[in-house]
Amino acid sequence: MVEGADAAAAEDLAGRLWSWSSRWHPGELAWLWRAAGPGVASWRTASWRAGGRTLAWARSTVPGRLDLQVDTAHDGLTPAVLDWFEDGAAGHDLAVTVLERESLLREVLLSRGYSPDVDAPSFLHLRRRLAAASPPAPLPPGYVLRSVVGAQDADARTGLHRAAFATPEPATATYRAVMAHPSYRPALDRFVVAPDGTPAAAALGWLDPRSGVLALEPVGTDPRFRRRGLARACVLAVLGAAVELGATHARVCARDGAADPAPRATYEAVGFRPYARNVRLVRPAR
Ligand SMILES: CC(C)(COP(=O)(O)OP(=O)(O)OC[C@H]1O[C@@H](n2cnc3c(N)ncnc32)[C@H](O)[C@@H]1OP(=O)(O)O)[C@@H](O)C(=O)NCCC(=O)NCCS
Repeated sequence: MVEGADAAAAEDLAGRLWSWSSRWHPGELAWLWRAAGPGVASWRTASWRAGGRTLAWARSTVPGRLDLQVDTAHDGLTPAVLDWFEDGAAGHDLAVTVLERESLLREVLLSRGYSPDVDAPSFLHLRRRLAAASPPAPLPPGYVLRSVVGAQDADARTGLHRAAFATPEPATATYRAVMAHPSYRPALDRFVVAPDGTPAAAALGWLDPRSGVLALEPVGTDPRFRRRGLARACVLAVLGAAVELGATHARVCARDGAADPAPRATYEAVGFRPYARNVRLVRPAR
């Protein structure tokens, strides 16, 4: 085990292990790691390697919370990963998020005294097949759909992300770092500009060429411009560009529930259907 997990190694493991029973798509990790910017310095991470390959990684972005991936051919490492997490979270209530389908991982957690958190927010994985590119979705008059051209669009993209997600992050420099990722494709980064020049909505896609699966991460519309079909237009444009780059399927994750029906409804409106969900297992502090 080494303290510190390298994002590129985690993405490589996610790519090698990708299946519809896998929680992580490499592009989603690319986004989550790079978009965190300097915030990554506050994470606790670790990786387990052999023969120059990463076999498992773990990250605790908040004390007591764990995300992880263990190579399915090396399941025996799971207790060591959990030991590392629990040792570093002494005194905290513990919460580990896994995909419902990761039954082995769930069994290990149950055997260590974790139990399903029935109050955890529901988080769905949705997918759709991609065939021929869909026709572009109509936009309201005066709105323009654009591809990111280069670093000069980083300001527009960060401003839009901050407005859509009501967050002070990411900084423009952080978005530039996202754009510098080897898997980032400007053609898969689409945004809509309102008639007054305000960036109003955007969708970013990450294509894993090994599987042909595109992950959408993130998608957002500035609250002032919602329910005008802007997210739909961005997502369909990204899906169309992905088909041209060889994608056969697309996958996206979304919160689910009456409190915020918009994400799931938006993805279902463009053909995605749920196929899996995250579950959270918790154990009170000891
Ligand atoms: C989810 C989100 C991107 C939707 O953006 P949007 O531009 O308002 O979505 P659209 O106008 O393109 O909606 C397309 C369709 O999705 C469905 N939909 C979108 N929002 C909905 C809502 N609040 N309730 C019900 N259906 C909704 C509708 O079917 C809609 O078509 P219609 O308006 O013709 O009925 C936006 O609400 C948002 O940015 N939320 C915060 C960030 C977020 O959660 N992002 C997704 C997770 S990464």
